[in-house]
Amino acid sequence: MSKTITLHTGAPMPTIGLGTWQAQDEEELERALDSALEAGYRFIDTAYLYGNEAIVGRTVQKWLDEGKGTREELFISTKLPMMGMRPEDVPEFLGASLSNLQLDYVDLYLIHVPFGMLRHGMQNLDEIVAGEVGTGALDMETDHVAIWKALEAEVDAGRTRHIGVSNFNERQLTRVLDNCTIKPANHQIELHLYLQQPDLVAFCLERGVTVTAYSPLGSPGSKWLNTADGLQLPDLLGLPEVRELADKYSKQPAQVLLRHLIQKGLVAVPKSTNPERLRQNIDIYDFELSEAEMDTLDALDRGEEGRIIDMLLIVGVKDHPEYPWAKP
Ligand code: A2P
Repeated sequence: MSKTITLHTGAPMPTIGLGTWQAQDEEELERALDSALEAGYRFIDTAYLYGNEAIVGRTVQKWLDEGKGTREELFISTKLPMMGMRPEDVPEFLGASLSNLQLDYVDLYLIHVPFGMLRHGMQNLDEIVAGEVGTGALDMETDHVAIWKALEAEVDAGRTRHIGVSNFNERQLTRVLDNCTIKPANHQIELHLYLQQPDLVAFCLERGVTVTAYSPLGSPGSKWLNTADGLQLPDLLGLPEVRELADKYSKQPAQVLLRHLIQKGLVAVPKSTNPERLRQNIDIYDFELSEAEMDTLDALDRGEEGRIIDMLLIVGVKDHPEYPWAKP
């Protein structure tokens, strides 16, 4: 099985990338990035909002300077934050990301979420986690098509090779597809055993939009989410069906979860800062789940009940024209 899929431009995209959400500790992330590049990761997924682009930039630059590889071998994605959700903001935010990343271009620039915040409504994710973002900070004028045109201009300017979206629902993605000159190359959504989103995935793949799964292991490190609305984080790694397959193939449960996703033609961005787990998460190309085993894992989908990252937690209001975000 190939370690890459092909985007609409013909460019390859690695099917496993390093997710960097919730990896802000500078030294820990730097070590993780070093280990990841060493272990063969060539795709790093970050975002302006994660507040760690500069660390990614520094580590990648060091790797390049040491002659360990070339820029062309890497696939770097980052995202337009919600406070940059106006067409005139796009050049500034992509410019800031490129400067943080020490790059002339990124491989993929995604619209992070389908809603916008007022320019000074919020600055970083910590404010969300701390519950400091008021509903008054929401921008009710968000125009996806106008923002998309600004993203297309960035492709033309050579500052990003591909553009895409994240956390959009089918209606929102359809509007972009129907009004674009340059197609979305990728849609990044929450996707794991308990939230498999088969309809949205089928829609994307039919329209030639590749799909990246975030929180592919069920985000077991997001302990802070436990306190929100009494949510219980799922223990996907501990499920008997997953453990049984891991035993059968002499693999770890995480490897079974990731293999299940990439065998469906998806991309996944598991996050880890542990060198051993980093290595495990990319060592999934030497075994194959049977059709029956894929079906067993497919059957564990819990639909919307399985969703962990609820965008409503971020803004707490439902009267935005683009609500519901992420959900159908
Ligand atoms: P750590 O960084 O200590 O490895 P997700 O990508 O779904 O958000 O999951 C990320 C979480 O899963 C992190 O807490 C990470 O912890 C943990 N994790 C990553 N890879 C593995 C693995 N192979 N086995 C067990 N836990 C993992």
